[in-house]
Parts: sequence; structure tokens; C-alpha cells
Amino acid sequence: MKIVRTVAETRAARAPLGRLGFVPTMGALHDGHMSLIGLARDGCDAVAASIFVNPTQFGPNEDLARYPRPIEADLAKLEAAGVELVFLPTVEIVYPAGFDTRIEVGAIAERLEGAVRPGHFSGVATVVSKLFNIVQPDVAWFGQKDVQQTRVVRQMVRDLDMPVDVRVGPTLREADGLAMSSRNVYLSATDRAQAVALYRGLSAAEAAWAGGQRDAAALRSLIAAQIAATTGVVDYISIAETNTLEELELVPPAGAVISLAVRYGATRLIDNLVLSAR
Ligand code: PAF
Repeated sequence: MKIVRTVAETRAARAPLGRLGFVPTMGALHDGHMSLIGLARDGCDAVAASIFVNPTQFGPNEDLARYPRPIEADLAKLEAAGVELVFLPTVEIVYPAGFDTRIEVGAIAERLEGAVRPGHFSGVATVVSKLFNIVQPDVAWFGQKDVQQTRVVRQMVRDLDMPVDVRVGPTLREADGLAMSSRNVYLSATDRAQAVALYRGLSAAEAAWAGGQRDAAALRSLIAAQIAATTGVVDYISIAETNTLEELELVPPAGAVISLAVRYGATRLIDNLVLSAR
């Protein structure tokens, strides 16, 4: 496994790798990331990953400083998974002195996470476009857990004609249903036990939908009831159109995405579930 840190080194190391699958990450790798690494090999000659805690996607009161950075353990996992190339830049490499360009994706980036975290998706789009330009992958994999991020990246790739095939891998869950996330390590034992309410809410809404409930407000209140049974504070509960993530009043035959963001103490958790057409 080759570890590269500069733009020139990365491009040189990437050149002979053929069709390249890529998993951009902020590290603190869990099984969800590792499943994307496994998927990235599909149809590709080699797999690359990046580890970079991107400051421009964190708000001023967010967890940039305390974001976990277990770099040695991360590299060992990537090595064991047979990854060929790891891009491990510093902030100065990605944002050198004088850096002054940002990518603004439109409406899709403004709702839900974008409304609660202003500037977040601009930071994501900017760094992902840089990572694409530096690593030059053919296929890039993102996790379904960050569903809005996958839509924002798809919109950017389409609008800016980036030659990258964006694919989405499923959310991996702990035994009780909590979606795997690098941020789960922040949860106290009490909050960890309560955090299962996100999945309980999603499952309750899915069951109601499967039973014929199409009213989005009714589905939202089923989820809200699960969260209200805990100390969780809801940022949003959304039933939205699958691609645009526009809020719905009725779930159409094509289905919808249910997503939510809930805070337990200082830890903010997100999760989602796709109601697919049947
Ligand atoms: O999903 C993440 O870990 C980050 O948002 C990403 C895509 C690596 C960009 O920093």
C-alpha cells in the first residue's frame, strides 16, 4: 500500500493503476467505510482511499478539533483490505496559502443538513472536487448514511461534467440498529443506549408505510414519538423525494427518503432509510 501526501506524488502513483475505485474518508474508519472499500474493488483494477478531516465542512461550533484521528489504526485497516493507494494530505496541502475558491451546489445543498449546517455542503463539494482532481478516480463510493451528501456530489459531478461515476453503498448498522458512524464514539453509555431511537423511528415509519400509510406528517410523528421517548433533540425529521430531497406531503408510489438528525448532548446523529417503490 502506497501512502502519498502531495498532489504530484498522488498523481504519479495513480497513473499506472488503471481503472481506479476511490473511497474518500475523514478517517476513524469503521465497518461502513470498509464495506465501501470492498465495493470499490468491483469492476476496478485498484482501490484508493483518502483520509482528510476537512476543516471547511465544519461549522465554527462543530467538532473539528475533537474529531477522532486514529491514523495508525486506519492505515492498518486499509492495508489489511488490500488498498493500493492512500492519499493522506495535511490541511496545507489541500488548502495552501492563497486558496480562494469554493464550489456552491444549489437547492439540494440548502435544505436539511444544509439548513442546519450553513456552508457544510460547500465545504464537502469543494474538497470532493479537489480529491477527484488529485486522485483522478473512475468510480467514487459514498455511504448512504450521508444521503444528502450523495445527492450533492451527484449534482456537482453532473453539473461540472466530472468524469467520475458516483456510487452509493448501504448503511451498516450495529446489532441494535444504530447506524455506524465515526461520531458514535462521542456518545456516553446513556446516550448510546438512547440513540437506537433513530432507527426505531425509521423502522416504525417504514412499517406504517408498508401497511399503507402515505401521509408524510403521520409518518413524521411516528418517528418524533420514538425520539421524544428519549432525551434526543430533533434538528429535523424529513420525508422527501428520493433525488431532490424536497419535502413531501404524501409519499408517492415511487417511494421517498426518510431522514433525520437528532442531538444527544453534544453529539449530533443522522440516519435515513429509503422507502422504495413496490
Ligand atoms: O463523508 C465524509 O467522510 C466526508 O464528507 C468526505 C466525503 C470525505 C468529504 O470530506
